[in-house]
Amino acid sequence: MITTQNKHVYIKTINYSNDYKKECAKVRNGWTSLLIIKDASPEVEKITGLTALSQDLYGNKVIPIGGDNNKDSGHIWHETEMLWHNDRAYSKDVHPVVGLYCVSAPKGSASTRFCDMQTAYEEAPQRLKDKSKIKCVSDVDKYFQQMQYPHTFKEERNEKIYRKRSKAVHDLVMYDDSGTWFFFSPAYTHVDHQDELVKHCLQDKYIYEHVWSNNDLLVYNNLKLIHARGETPSKVKRRHLRYALT
Ligand SMILES: [Fe+2]
Repeated sequence: MITTQNKHVYIKTINYSNDYKKECAKVRNGWTSLLIIKDASPEVEKITGLTALSQDLYGNKVIPIGGDNNKDSGHIWHETEMLWHNDRAYSKDVHPVVGLYCVSAPKGSASTRFCDMQTAYEEAPQRLKDKSKIKCVSDVDKYFQQMQYPHTFKEERNEKIYRKRSKAVHDLVMYDDSGTWFFFSPAYTHVDHQDELVKHCLQDKYIYEHVWSNNDLLVYNNLKLIHARGETPSKVKRRHLRYALT
């Protein structure tokens, strides 16, 4: 398991007095993959320059993991674990930077794990790199086929539209000035050598697990890191707000 001391991970923890916007810019340009801000102000947009995102197709802002909000929205949230993914990798324009602000994480809340796909690429055998010089489709429908989607649509028509539209073609290997990485979401990406990629990338040494506290703000490079979360019992009110650089 990665620690914040591991230089390959590019994780940085900063305190309240730091310049958040400058630090977020480093996440955007890839020199920091994951920024952990403890006791962050709830004024996330103001301090970071990130923009609040609706969390789902219905415009809800909070990610409510737990069943107690289900009566109020057009869909049903589940407490099941979420497969490894880049946020919205099935879109043409994937957000390069995403922020998650923890409103509430009582005892029993799932942690979030992040996998460093840049270090995984750097340490991959050459044959795996050679096989990965391709474009491939990332498709939300793959998720539905693998397991229960994290929320269920109350209207079948909405589900059909969502499943049909949420599909995009991307390079499986991406790069910028700060490095090269696999852009591979096990939840969404169709690729013939998936098993080999999963076996190599999802090794403990590339994974950082974050146990949430209230007011934690995590800002991550959504291209270089994939993430996953565990299960949370429905009685536990785990709440996050999501932001992005668009
Ligand atoms: Fe996510």
